[in-house]
Formats: sequence, C-alpha cells, structure tokens
Amino acid sequence: MPAFTSAAPGKIILFGEHAVVYGRPAIAVPVAGVRARAMISADPRAAEGRVRIQAPDINLEADLDKLPGSHPLAAALRAVLSDLGLPRSPACHIRIKSTIPVASGLGSGAAVTVALIRAYSAFLGKPLPDEKVNALAFEIEKLHHGTPSGIDNTVITYAMPVYFQRKPTGPIIETFNVPQPFQIVIGDTGVRSPTAVSVRDVNKGWQAETEYFERLFDQIGSITEDARKMIEAGQPSRLGALMDENQALLVQMGVSSPPLDRLIQAARFAGAFGAKLSGGGRGGNMIALVNGNIAEVVRQALKDAGAVRTLLTPVKSC
Ligand code: MEV
Repeated sequence: MPAFTSAAPGKIILFGEHAVVYGRPAIAVPVAGVRARAMISADPRAAEGRVRIQAPDINLEADLDKLPGSHPLAAALRAVLSDLGLPRSPACHIRIKSTIPVASGLGSGAAVTVALIRAYSAFLGKPLPDEKVNALAFEIEKLHHGTPSGIDNTVITYAMPVYFQRKPTGPIIETFNVPQPFQIVIGDTGVRSPTAVSVRDVNKGWQAETEYFERLFDQIGSITEDARKMIEAGQPSRLGALMDENQALLVQMGVSSPPLDRLIQAARFAGAFGAKLSGGGRGGNMIALVNGNIAEVVRQALKDAGAVRTLLTPVKSC
C-alpha cells in the first residue's frame, strides 16, 4: 500500500498580529522555505487499530490511544476520524517531520496540523477539501494557543497571501494579488516564545487598559488596510515605513523584546526599508523588507547581531 504524504509551509504575519485577535484585519503570507511534512502508511503487521506516531522533532513516539485528548496530534487525528464518521482507524504508522522552528512565530503548530489532517484523510480514502482542513485545523489551534484568531491555520491551509479579519459571523478570508513581488528577510532571535503566552499577556493588558489597547488595535488595523492597498497598487517599497509604524505599536503593546529590537535595528541600519517582529513576539522571528541588492547585506547584519537563522522569502501571487 502506498504511503500518503502531505506538506505545509510556514507563515509570517506581515501586518496586524495581536490586533487580529480583536477583530482588526491582518495580512499573512506563506513561507515556502520551511515546511512540515506528514507521512502515513498502513501497518499490516500491527494489531488492529494501532496507530503509531513518530515525531522526532518533538521527541514523541507513541500510540494514538496512549495520548490524551488534549494532545494536538491526537486531537487532529481524532477530529478527522470523527468528521469522516469512522469509529476507528486502520492500523498505520505516522511520521511527522518539520523544518519550521517551534514557538518562533512561523506557524509550526498549524503547519503540522494541516499536513497531518491532509495526509490522514487521504490515507483514509477521503481527502478533505481546504475549507474543512482549515476548520479542523482552527479547532486544533485552540489547543495550541487558547484564543487564536485563525489567521495562522488559514494562510497555511491555502498557502497564499491572505487578508484576514475575524468577524462574529465567521472570518473574512481574501486572497489578493501581488503585482510587484517583493522580498522579506526573516531573522530568528533563537528565543522560543509560545504564542499562547504573549496572546494571554496582551489580553491582560487589554482588560486592564481597554481604551488604550483598542486605540493601538485601531491604528494597526488602518496600517494593515494601507499596506494592502500599496501591495495591490504594486508599490511594495512603501511598505517599509508601515512596518516600522506597526512595530512601534507592537512595542507599546509590550510584545517586543531586547533580542527582537536588536535584530530590527540591525536590519534597518543595514538598509532594510522597514522591519518588525512577526507573530506572537517576545522572541521568535522578525522580518525586514529588502530588495535583491541589499538582501545579503541585511542577512549578514542580522547574523552579526545574533540571529541564529535567517531566511529570504519572496512574497508573490500564487
Ligand atoms: C500569531 O501568528 C498571530 C497572533 O495574532 C495570534 C493569532 O492571531 O492567533 C499573535
């Protein structure tokens, strides 16, 4: 029997992280240079229904029925079985590998979930459509992050640039044109920072000083709207100033950190058109807008300033 494999990319948030949890729009794009992969094959020699999971990147080797319901991998597999109306799984072996660093703002959890849901539903003979994959992945994101907006699972499921806004009636998800492709350098502080923690801290701040935080969210929302217009008008070089403005508001929100500030400063000093943190913040990754002439200079400057990894990713229509 053939093995079923599915891969999903990482992601960066270009504009609007955190504010998106509070109903403001955000823009996210896939990062194809890193990916999570799930491989599933039938195991005819195993006892009936035995599902063996190997995820060496997180030191996990376990049977599905030994994992608690709250474990994101187990929850994803059980969600697929339940959605397909299957009482139990055929015996199989699942291997999950990822090059996306965990807890770094690049969507590692959502990418693993999306790859796993796709590979498992295909293995079961009923590949799920994108809309369903996205809906199930959103449920699993709640186990990772508590109160996710849904932007991470969405951009990773569709693997296209998305404009996303959470609404009480369901999210607005719009893919949009990038007539003038541009390049982003990603710099990793190497500091692991779970999104759930920064999202919870922002929520504490919002509860204590609601008006102040609402004003920050509004300003970020309008930056995101302006950014979308510039991208669609084919003027990406003007995004740099907006990234800097967005970063200043994230600093005021309390989600930047000295290592992030250091990399952001180094990128700007090396000639990047703008730079900001990306994702939950506090650690993880920052992004800088560059062009072909300065990309390598900015990467080197980030390394010199302590980045443990850099990546150059294009933003283009898919
Ligand atoms: C995480 O990539 C982005 C946050 O806005 C959280 C979320 O939207 O779920 C920080």
